[in-house]
Amino acid sequence: MPDTHHRIPSFVHQRNRLSEGQQHAWDRWWPEYGGDVAEVERLEPEALFGRTAPVVLEIGSGMGDATAEMAAAAPEVDHLAVEVYEPGLARLLMLRQEAGLENLRLLRGDAVDLLDRAVPEGLLEGIRIFFPDPWPKRRHHKRRLVQPGFVALAASRLRPGGWLHLATDWEHYALQMREVCDACPLLHRAPAAGPEGWLPRPDSRPLTKFEQRAEREGRAIRDLLYVR
Ligand SMILES: C[S@@+](CC[C@H](N)C(=O)[O-])C[C@H]1O[C@@H](n2cnc3c(N)ncnc32)[C@H](O)[C@@H]1O
Repeated sequence: MPDTHHRIPSFVHQRNRLSEGQQHAWDRWWPEYGGDVAEVERLEPEALFGRTAPVVLEIGSGMGDATAEMAAAAPEVDHLAVEVYEPGLARLLMLRQEAGLENLRLLRGDAVDLLDRAVPEGLLEGIRIFFPDPWPKRRHHKRRLVQPGFVALAASRLRPGGWLHLATDWEHYALQMREVCDACPLLHRAPAAGPEGWLPRPDSRPLTKFEQRAEREGRAIRDLLYVR
């Protein structure tokens, strides 16, 4: 497996102030439902969620709307959102409380570090990566999350039969994702995909405002689903 320890991060960490409401939610709920990737030695879902259930990891939950919706739609599944953007995590904490989502926990930090160090092989039911930062400039392509070393790592953390679901509105990145995942020996493209490999948006992925705009502007959204 390519060395994931010397890779370039897929994000740029910015110190962002929380709004008053976000700060309130953070102070009240973060100690209970949040945590730092750096402090997780070994991910133990039973201890984290207080039950035994399939665990789906989402990398880059952003502002959290889709995450909260997916957690509400699948109460039988435990959802772990990993994000570096604190206002987004704080907002997701608010959504979590509003909807009473017992099956949702949040981690702050680099999901690649989490997968690499702390997630045992074969643990996860699924991994979601929706609209990862596209890094459109050629000289920034090396920052893209979906690269061979990362995909090999992610695939190894899935249980046999577990899935990796990716979505992007950047055609160039979609092609890269398809090429990299097709080449990963552990993964197979989901049979429901069309001949080009794209899948119609599954109901499990909520339609976001951002995506509605992309559609209006004529940009195709590409969904890719792979199974280990
Ligand atoms: C373009 S946003 C998309 C957010 C959300 N999935 C959506 O569809 O609106 C990508 C997010 O991924 C986060 N991110 C990028 N690399 C990450 C990493 N290695 N670990 C955790 N989060 C990451 C960024 O902070 C950013 O919020």
